[in-house]
This record gives sequence, structure tokens and C-alpha cells, in this order.
Amino acid sequence: MQRIIILDFGSQTTQLIARRVRETGTFCEIMLPSEYPVGDDEDVIGVILSGSPYSVTDDEALQAGLGRYMGRVPVLGICYGAQRIAADGGGTVIRTGAHEYGRARLTAADTADPLLKGMTVDTQVWMSHGDTIRDLPHGAHVIASTTDVAIAAFAIPRQRVWGVQFHPEVSHTEQGQTLLTNFVCGICGSQGLWSAGNFISAAISDIKQMVGTDDRVVIGLSGGVDSSVCALLVSRAIGDRLTGIFVDHGLMRKNEADEVIEIYRQLGINVKRVDASERFLGDLAGVREPEQKRRIIGRDFVEVFSREATAIGGARWLAQGTIYPDRIESRTVTGTVIKSHHNVGGLPEKMGLRLCEPLRWLFKDEVRAVGRELGIPEKLLGRHPFPGPGLAVRIVGEVNRETVRIVQEADDIFIRALREWHCSDGRSLYDTVWQAGAVLLADVRTVGVMGDERTYDSPIVLRAVTSTDAMTADWAHLPQDFLAAVSSSIVDKVKGVNRVCYDISSKPPSTIEWE
Ligand code: XMP
Repeated sequence: MQRIIILDFGSQTTQLIARRVRETGTFCEIMLPSEYPVGDDEDVIGVILSGSPYSVTDDEALQAGLGRYMGRVPVLGICYGAQRIAADGGGTVIRTGAHEYGRARLTAADTADPLLKGMTVDTQVWMSHGDTIRDLPHGAHVIASTTDVAIAAFAIPRQRVWGVQFHPEVSHTEQGQTLLTNFVCGICGSQGLWSAGNFISAAISDIKQMVGTDDRVVIGLSGGVDSSVCALLVSRAIGDRLTGIFVDHGLMRKNEADEVIEIYRQLGINVKRVDASERFLGDLAGVREPEQKRRIIGRDFVEVFSREATAIGGARWLAQGTIYPDRIESRTVTGTVIKSHHNVGGLPEKMGLRLCEPLRWLFKDEVRAVGRELGIPEKLLGRHPFPGPGLAVRIVGEVNRETVRIVQEADDIFIRALREWHCSDGRSLYDTVWQAGAVLLADVRTVGVMGDERTYDSPIVLRAVTSTDAMTADWAHLPQDFLAAVSSSIVDKVKGVNRVCYDISSKPPSTIEWE
């Protein structure tokens, strides 16, 4: 399959480059420069060098190893990538002292160049760099400029190399997608055949080949988008030889376990529900400390899951819904892990099962597209993220049947209202936020009055955030009349609650979950 390699020098927008390339219907892969394949690989049709927080003038600057691909396949350098090409080719890159940051306009652009075909002069581009190219290498010429940056883009036609000092992948660069499409389709010759539909048939045949005709596969199901899409793909490949194990820890949203199981049944996934709520709640009794709650839930989950998987007999594979960002975020350019993901590592080593991860190359929106194509209902595909330890991390205090009931009831009122209220563009409030839920401050009691009675009950905190990746988040500016309606409804209907607060903290410095 044709593919573009994106060499990652640590830019925050590397994944965005990959997303944009995929939008052209072209498969692409992000790699560290040191991981570039040795020898010719006919499937590689082009290489893109990302930006970087580093400077090519630093002693410890990252090397691009240009000799391995320059002259063999077309190359596009973006920002640091362009400067790397210029510096390594004998040009000069200097520190400007001033960080060139923000919007700029192209004052000149050679639209006869294949990279800039169809673009217009005076279009807005986005700059973010502290260095600039002063002299180009031999054989290179300028193809675009801005008022402040004479060499905004250059070409070395003989070697089929291009460099841009702005960022075509970000939305502030108005014609960035045109430029990237020119490179990927026009220059590299991508046929644009990558799509959710042909991914499905290729993935199904890969799974069949990998698992063979006898082995059995298990998967942990939770109702999340990734694990559900993964399960359906595997089930399409091997049918009943897949068993989904749904460990019900009793900490799901109200009725959610029933709803999710029903959807799996309708989709024809062989799923086994294990009601382990007694065990989880028993082990959580008296525990207040958030990390201890997580440890207990993680340990119980592994034990219950392993026991059930062993009981199935003959299971040799564990399917997991690991997606591409899980893998690339789990390592950085310098090799240090910044965030370890729930799906990467964990279960398999302990269980001696081999891993089957059919979604490992997909971005989240591609997973949704695949799910849609496979017929998974929108209600499941559009679900907000939900933490593995469930409502336990939304109960500040002890987790027991009563505190779980209270938070479930309040959460249900909040989530239903978010689905029912719509904003002016027709979307439900639910669809405008990244994630929402209710938090019970079980250890806090405040005074209230209901009718003529004094009450002394716990507060519920409503949390709703907007985000693109959960790494940062802003509190959602929900309409005040909506919040007022939800607040009255909760205090009226949920026994044990006499006060409702709305969390107006962003992440950082707060986190999305309270625990
Ligand atoms: P925080 O609270 O760290 O949450 O801002 C970021 C995102 O991760 C989810 N989250 C978890 N997911 N196990 C999970 O599977 C966990 O222990 C966990 N803790 C937080 C959270 O819901 C949000 O989407």
C-alpha cells in the first residue's frame, strides 16, 4: 500500500500533518528519524519532515539522515524540516532573535510550481519559528515569500525537494490542505485509495490470517468507541471465535451496562457479561484515597477478566482497541515516555496472550468512520469518554451502593438534559461538549431547606468540558437557564442531594476528573 512517511522531530503538530495526509486518502506513518526503513521500500512514495521545538543551530540538534531518502522519493520539509534541509545542503540558518509567530500573508508565490498549484498570492499562512533560512543550498530557489520572511518556501526541483517555513497543517494556513494535497497526490503520486471502507476489508483479511482458523480471541468490552469498533471488526473476521468480556464493576452510568450489552447483541458480537459489582464494591469499602481506588479496581479487573478468559478455554489472543495516538503519545522524539496509556502494556504480559490490535494505525475520527461503516449506532459512536474506574473516581469519599446510586441518578438527569437541549446550530448540548458528568462530594454535608424541613445532605458538582484530546480542557460555557433547570431537577428528584454546583475550572491547572 502506498504510504507517506512523516519523520517526527517533536513538533506539537506532527499528528496534525498525519491527519491532513490521511484526508487526501493516503496512508501515512509517523516515525522517529532513526526509525526510517533501511533500503528501498517501494510503498514509500514520499517523506515529510515535521517541525520541532529544537533549533538546527543547537549542538544537540536532531539529525534528519537526509541521504537515506533525498533523491529517491519526494521530500517536503516543514519549518524545522525545511531548515534542516537547507542547513544540511550547505545553506545557512540563523537565529533571528525574534520569534516569528502567528499569521502572515504570502506576498509572492510561484503558483506554477507543483507545490503551490491552485494557491493564490496574499493567502494567510501560520508561522512559528525562532530561526530563519538566510541562504539556500545550491540548486534551490525561492517559491514564496512574506513581508518578513523572504524564503517562506523553496524548491530544489532536481532532487524533488521542497521546504516551507510556515505550517500548512494548521487551520490558520488557509490553503494548507491544497499545498499538502499538491505534495501528496500531485508530486508523490498518491492514488488516494485509503479509506474506511477499504481499511475494513484489509483489516478483516489481516485478522483472519493472523489468528488462523482455530484460535480463539478475547476482548474486554466497556461500551467505549475503540473497544467496540475493534470487537466488531474481529467478530466480522472470525465470528463466534471472539468472546467479548464485559466486566460489570457496578460503577457504570445508570442503565448503561444494559444498553451497551443490548447494542453488542444486536451487532452480533458474542459477549459475556460478568456481574462483579459485589466484589468491586466489597473491595472498595472504606477506601477514600483516589489512587488506592484505582489500584483496587485495576487489580480486580485483571483478576476477573483473566479468570473469565481462562474459563473460555483455548483463547490465545487478546484483541485491544489501541489506536494510533495511544502509541505515538506513549513515546517522544527523545525516547522518554510522557504519558503511558491504559491500552499500551498491561493485560497481555500477565496473561500470556498474543495481541491483536487492528485499529493501531487509526486516528479517533477514522475509528468512528470505520464504526459507522460497520453499522455501529451513532449513540455508541458519539459517546463521551468515560474513565475505566467509572463512577468511583466521581465520588469524593467512600464508594458504596448508596453513593453510587446518588451519583448515577444525578448524572442521568444531567446527561439526559444535555441530549435534549439543542443550540442554535441544531446540535445537542451533549454533542458540543467533549465530556460531562456529575461528581458527588460524599464527604461534604451542607445545610438546606426542603418544604419546612431542614436538610443536611451532600452536594453534586456538574462537570462539562470542551477539549480536543483531553490533554487540555476548558469548562463548557453551558447556558444558565439549562444549568438552572438541571439543578432544580437534581435537588427535586435525587434523595440525598440538597445543593448543585458547576465546576468552572480548566485543565490545567485542574483535571477533568475530580479524582
Ligand atoms: P484527567 O482527569 O486526567 O482525564 O484530566 C483525562 C481523560 O482521561 C480520562 N481518565 C481515565 N480513563 N482510566 C481511564 O480509562 C482512568 O483511570 C482515567 N482517569 C481519567 C478522563 O475521563 C478524561 O477523558
